[in-house]
Amino acid sequence: MVYAHIAGWGMSVPETVMTNADLEKIVDTNDAWIKDRTGIRERRIASDSQSSSSLAVEASLKALQVANLKPTDLDLIICATSTPEHIFPATACLVQDRIGAVKAGAFDLLAACSGFIYGLNMAAQSIQSSAIQNALVIGTETLSRFVNWQDRNTCILFGDGAGAFVLRASDRPGGVLSAVMHSDGSGSNLLILPAGGSKYPATEATVQAGRHYIEMDGREVFRFATRVMAQSTREALELIDLDLDQVEWIIPHQANIRIIEAAARGLKLPMERFVVNLDKYGNTSTASIPIAAVEAVEDGRLKPGNKVVLVGFGAGLTWGALVAEWTGPMETKPKVYPSRYRFWARLRSRLRRFARFVEGLIWGRHS
Ligand code: UT7
Repeated sequence: MVYAHIAGWGMSVPETVMTNADLEKIVDTNDAWIKDRTGIRERRIASDSQSSSSLAVEASLKALQVANLKPTDLDLIICATSTPEHIFPATACLVQDRIGAVKAGAFDLLAACSGFIYGLNMAAQSIQSSAIQNALVIGTETLSRFVNWQDRNTCILFGDGAGAFVLRASDRPGGVLSAVMHSDGSGSNLLILPAGGSKYPATEATVQAGRHYIEMDGREVFRFATRVMAQSTREALELIDLDLDQVEWIIPHQANIRIIEAAARGLKLPMERFVVNLDKYGNTSTASIPIAAVEAVEDGRLKPGNKVVLVGFGAGLTWGALVAEWTGPMETKPKVYPSRYRFWARLRSRLRRFARFVEGLIWGRHS
């Protein structure tokens, strides 16, 4: 039997911090309301030179470094994102090119804030079926580009950032143990970015009407989230007959502290068993679970051998949970330096573009 181990992890967040006090200057809100109703104190905002792919590249190279894998060892890249750089090509392909993952298939996965759980499950299944050996799963967002900074219902919630896991095949038991994924499209209107797709292509009218921003029915999403968090956690555990008291950590989607508290009540667990960092980053959608996991590893809470549940919900509506035994880096020698591949990746990319240009000249396409 083949197991899919989480062997590497990395995160990247922009340096620019936007506090609740900063938001008070933009919309009619206040620090006390935001802290009380959401638990958020500050969030990170991407600079003009940063994008969903650039944050993803940083997080991915760190994850490869921990896993001690070269980009060329990757068979698959799944990029879960709600804020891709373009409708197409996939942001995953931009990452593939920039890190030099020349052997990897790459695609984006859109399941909103549940996307990282969906992506991790898909990659784990590919490894467990022996179709592939090594996969990179990314959650990356630049939500600040899609937030209406005049809408206090949404602009206080979201932040930018990226997180990535490397999954590796091994016959040693552990890694991803079970997962459940759910959806309910009847709630598709509750959290939506209406325009810019094929239904409402970008026009002057859609821009004027502000339809290229996130729209949300906060109360309904809140009610849905409090219902599904505990439920899907239990479902994923039941699949492998694991009890909650055998789980060290729950890493929930970081949307609102009150949603996490409701899940804790539903599961009859103390809040100390939940990894929470939304006070620092707000809701980073697909990136929130891997960022929280990386911080928990780095501060020594999440240790090899720990059982962990990742659980999330989001637009779609989608929700899901995944149970894993945390592995830690696996032995591979000699030591590799994935970031050094960046230079070669850039050179390779330029050469390929140039070769395409020359080919075009030969076949007369540039005349
Ligand atoms: O990844 C999934 C993403 N989405 C979510 O997770 C959203 C889930 N929903 C929520 O987190 C919460 O519903 C919110 C934080 C969005 C809102 O909290 P709430 O406790 O549900 O507030 P509410 O919408 O019921 O509004 C309560 C009051 C309203 O005033 P009135 O009508 O009672 O006078 C709002 O106008 O708070 C007002 N309000 C604000 N006041 C100050 C709403 N937003 C703000 C604000 N600052 N930013």
